[in-house]
Amino acid sequence: MSDSVTGLLTAAPVAGAAYLVAALLFILSLAGLSNHETSRSGLTYGISGMAIALAATVWLSYDQGPREARTLSIVLLTTAVLIGAGIGVWRARVVEMTGMPQLIALLHSFVGAAAVLVAWNGHLDESQLTGSLLAIHHAEVFVGAFIGAVTFTGSIVAFLKLSGRIKSSPLMLPGKNILNVGALAAFAALTVWYVIEPQLWLLVTLTALALALGWHLVAAIGGGDMPVVVSMLNSYSGWAAAATGFLLDNDLLIVTGALVGSSGAYLSYVMCRAMNRSFLSVITGGFGLEAPVAGSGAEDGEHREVTAAETADLLRSAASVAIVPGYGMAVAQAQYPVADLTAKLRDRGVDVTFGIHPVAGRLPGHMNVLLAEAKVPYDIVLEMDEINDDLSGTSVVLVIGANDTVNPAAEDPGSPIAGMPVLRVWEADNVVVLKRSMASGYAGVQNPLLFRENTAMLFGDAKERVEDILRHL
Ligand code: TAP
Repeated sequence: MSDSVTGLLTAAPVAGAAYLVAALLFILSLAGLSNHETSRSGLTYGISGMAIALAATVWLSYDQGPREARTLSIVLLTTAVLIGAGIGVWRARVVEMTGMPQLIALLHSFVGAAAVLVAWNGHLDESQLTGSLLAIHHAEVFVGAFIGAVTFTGSIVAFLKLSGRIKSSPLMLPGKNILNVGALAAFAALTVWYVIEPQLWLLVTLTALALALGWHLVAAIGGGDMPVVVSMLNSYSGWAAAATGFLLDNDLLIVTGALVGSSGAYLSYVMCRAMNRSFLSVITGGFGLEAPVAGSGAEDGEHREVTAAETADLLRSAASVAIVPGYGMAVAQAQYPVADLTAKLRDRGVDVTFGIHPVAGRLPGHMNVLLAEAKVPYDIVLEMDEINDDLSGTSVVLVIGANDTVNPAAEDPGSPIAGMPVLRVWEADNVVVLKRSMASGYAGVQNPLLFRENTAMLFGDAKERVEDILRHL
């Protein structure tokens, strides 16, 4: 190749163009993922963008290093990418659908840890900068370490809560709001100090403070609000990546980080609206929330049991049936017999609909994915707001492995899930709840629905019980 051609093909401008293409593909990917019909092409755009970005970054780092260090740096980079990709493929293949939120939370913690490490590296390596550029660099180091450390510990707590390793109820330290506001004020003061006088101990103090703040922010949020926390941490991890992009002078990281940060923040906002939660309160670790009144929402009493044969009789004589699935349907993998039951009832002329709560299961859209997998027609799968007003005229509601999302305690102001909109299944003529025991749901709140007069319990694994009903129909 002639010198003029190799000159034109130096890595920096080509990588810049490749980064632009990758950024556009990421935007197309987000647009595709917003709808289940286009989500496959969304994934293809995202994977293509990431492949282009990785190739351009490898080439850029190869082209920029000192000649003798190039081979070593390319070997190290490729080895790290291969190890990471190997672990990623293995985890993605073995993870259960029900384990996705905790896996995502854990992955966010890696982004946070990377941002902290890059920030620390930025402190140690500032040799080429002077004057105001150096001051800006110091601010970037501090902001990057702060966002990264908050994301790191916040994501670890989310992982521990979602995987049931620690209890999901909110940690209510005395003066928790003052602690959070104090930590933010200390961050602002330390940043100014560090920009003027960049000493290592200030960075150590800031990192320790941010680690503690991240832990506390997420620990203070109760189980029922965890979906919002996961998408909020997604947003934080985006901002941490953007901060890393400024430090590494990498435009693609800045753009991608901002895309993840803003889309995660918007998703959190949408979820907060759907759950009637204050967005500001959730992102500030439950700011302004009081500890729930102990014991509130609990209601003991007699519950009534039915058999699968009795449930089949009830369904046979029903004019309309609403099915409300929840996390238990996902655990039991009951969506296939549920789809068969739906088809059988529809063949008999029964009007069957599904009611989907925005946070049913453990992921946004969890139930929709499972029902689509089992080929339940889209047009009978209704959102909570679309079905709630019709539940009072419904002959039978089958609650399959759902609990918090159908809990009337949400209407009790003293309950930990107070104000969360729920599916008002108790307004139907008959309610049959399929679950294994009288245990509470994810938020750990007792469910008075189970003791209502028009509610009957069909105990056992959801898949086995639905198959039993099918046999009796
Ligand atoms: P949950 O309130 O978690 O209740 C699920 C119920 O399923 C449990 O009470 C359990 O009772 C039952 N169950 C478990 N395994 C079963 C099986 N094999 N067969 C039959 N039943 C089984 O579920 P939900 O109503 O879907 O509410 C979701 C909860 O998760 C909300 O609190 C939500 O805030 C939270 N959350 C949601 C998300 C998203 S984005 N969707 C993310 C994180 C957290 P038994 O043990 O008695 O069987």
